[in-house]
Amino acid sequence: MSASSYQQAYLQASENPETFWAAEAAKLQWHTPPTRILASGADGQQQWFPDGRLNTAWLALDAHVQAGRGEQTAIIYDSPVTGTKSSITYADLTRRVAQCAGMLRDMGVARGDRVIIYMPMIPETVIAMLACARLGAVHCVVFGGFAAPELAVRIDDAQADVVLTASCGIEVDRIIAYKPLVDAAIAQARHPVRRCVVLQRPQCRAELYADRDVDWQQSLANAEPADAVAVQATDPLYILYTSGTTGKPKGVVRDHGGHAVAMRYSMATVYDVGVGDVFWAASDVGWVVGHSYIVYGPLLAGCTTVIYEGKPIRTPDAGAFWRVCSEYGVKALFAAPTAFRAIRKEDPEAKLASQYDLSKLERLYLAGERLDPPTWAWLQEHFDRPVIDHWWQTETGWAIAANPAGYSLQEPKMGSATWPMPGYLLSILDDEGAPVAAGVQGNIAIRLPLPPGCLTGIWGNPERFRAGYLTTFPGFYVSGDAGYIDQDGYVFVMGRTDDIINVAGHRLSTGEMEEVLGAHPAVAECAVIGVPDELKGELPLGMVVLKNDVAVDPQQLASELAALVRKEIGALACFQQSLIVQRLPKTRSGKILRRILRQIASGEVFTVPSTIDDPACLDELRAQLELRRAG
Ligand code: COA
Ligand code: AMP
Repeated sequence: MSASSYQQAYLQASENPETFWAAEAAKLQWHTPPTRILASGADGQQQWFPDGRLNTAWLALDAHVQAGRGEQTAIIYDSPVTGTKSSITYADLTRRVAQCAGMLRDMGVARGDRVIIYMPMIPETVIAMLACARLGAVHCVVFGGFAAPELAVRIDDAQADVVLTASCGIEVDRIIAYKPLVDAAIAQARHPVRRCVVLQRPQCRAELYADRDVDWQQSLANAEPADAVAVQATDPLYILYTSGTTGKPKGVVRDHGGHAVAMRYSMATVYDVGVGDVFWAASDVGWVVGHSYIVYGPLLAGCTTVIYEGKPIRTPDAGAFWRVCSEYGVKALFAAPTAFRAIRKEDPEAKLASQYDLSKLERLYLAGERLDPPTWAWLQEHFDRPVIDHWWQTETGWAIAANPAGYSLQEPKMGSATWPMPGYLLSILDDEGAPVAAGVQGNIAIRLPLPPGCLTGIWGNPERFRAGYLTTFPGFYVSGDAGYIDQDGYVFVMGRTDDIINVAGHRLSTGEMEEVLGAHPAVAECAVIGVPDELKGELPLGMVVLKNDVAVDPQQLASELAALVRKEIGALACFQQSLIVQRLPKTRSGKILRRILRQIASGEVFTVPSTIDDPACLDELRAQLELRRAG
């Protein structure tokens, strides 16, 4: 296809979205094809394909078997941390998912019920997700790096009766026992968990509690396979919690129909892969990238997907990604810039990569955070193939902007995620909602309707969805990212407009960390900001004001605060640094000016806002932050 076919698709999706997406939907095997394409629900939210019926797991599995692809490899499992490699065909995966669905059905799980999955990167995790989808149950995967309180919040919000877990995860050479964490979360949650199904891994055996806990393998052995349940296209497929600006994570809800259409479309147009291609998203199923492009996208497209239980470095070295690509003939690799920064740091000349045959690797995809120019340049220099930055969010589920390989690759511009994908009508708006000129930075907003595959709401909280995304600029979804579009239509995403930070491609809420720090008995008030970090992009820095007459050893306090964040949120927050300050800059109405703190901490030029209550406090802060930066 050509650039003009992209233009044509973009125009059609903009001017006549129903015709465009009806044609894309017709490429799927529906149980009942939709006759209505786009409607408004009772709460005013958009609904794609409201009268269609389908089952996403059936499309991802049984449909391939019926089409004669049963013997094709669906999943490659490569686990350097356990020394295991295996593969599963589509026929076998279908059988195992049906059996797992039968196990869940025996436990009373039915259409619409929520199931928490707190598991490492192993095939059973994907099987569990697909088994939920097969029954029309709603999975809610929680990343293994989250601590017990985070898991408890999700159990409560999703009102999940069943939790699926494994005895442990493995972080390079450390065994992380999951079961004690799950037990603590279940104890903390207000909502009672009826069943906890535990997959015992040989590296660590978990203690099971009678009446509630059951052994995965035993339960599975007793189960009869379950057939796929046809559900409404608008039924929820999954809830995935993501950080918002407040302490409470928000449950992004994705539907069956719109999601399946978007996944199939994006595999073809963003990634240009199809039946039989090996596609590897080197992420974790706990994140949206894992949901969309380890599990659903590749399987719906009939690809072979790779489940990699390891790191880009240290398992065993910085050649790990290249080994996997070479061993399995990966055609497209998708990873976060931070992973390549880690590889570059250890292997700056990419010598390890040259040991592997990468002839099948056609393209590298990056997302999750801004692709910094040095990483882009390094990848370009050492890997003579397109390096594609693409921009998306948990909320959208697929790329908002990308270099559309499936239409025609465009000349890239450094720092740009290239063009908006068909279906996304981007506008750059100033704070009053007026469009700005080409090249001028503002709020990136998407004109409604959002294309299929984007969130259909926030679980149990339609008001949070409206208030958080739809009311700032009426008629638009506000992305929370700032950026600009240049005169050639290239999209540049520059950073968040809110207090969300991005640590090693993981989206974290500073508000949530502030709640944790604020609970320390010595802390009167605090602010957490993201400061630049060479490897992880950003790291959190806490600034705390002590209560009057409290005497603390600063170092002792810093380690207590770090331990608190680890215990309450998890190791993935990477919270290690804090500073004791006398005052925090505030507006006259008492709002902390975090932006100015960020600017001072990263050495940017800033103007003192006219709304500041006490400009003198900036001098002290500047001195402290500069001292920290210098040393
Ligand atoms: N379960 C339990 N703990 C986990 C975990 C998991 N699934 N994932 C991370 N952690 C822990 C780590 O063990 C580490 O703990 P520590 O502080 O005790 O050492 C902490 O969380 C931070 O982990 P991480 O950010 O992975 O740091 P690292 O130094 O181990 O590795 C990188 C650095 C760059 C190699 C790593 O961050 C990486 O691979 N990043 C890419 C992540 C990614 O794909 N993000 C995109 C999502 S779309
Ligand atoms: P998440 O919801 O965890 O996928 O994080 C989404 C956020 O990550 C976005 O809102 C951006 O701030 C950031 N992000 C993701 N991809 C990119 C990219 N390619 N360029 C710039 N920022 C990105």
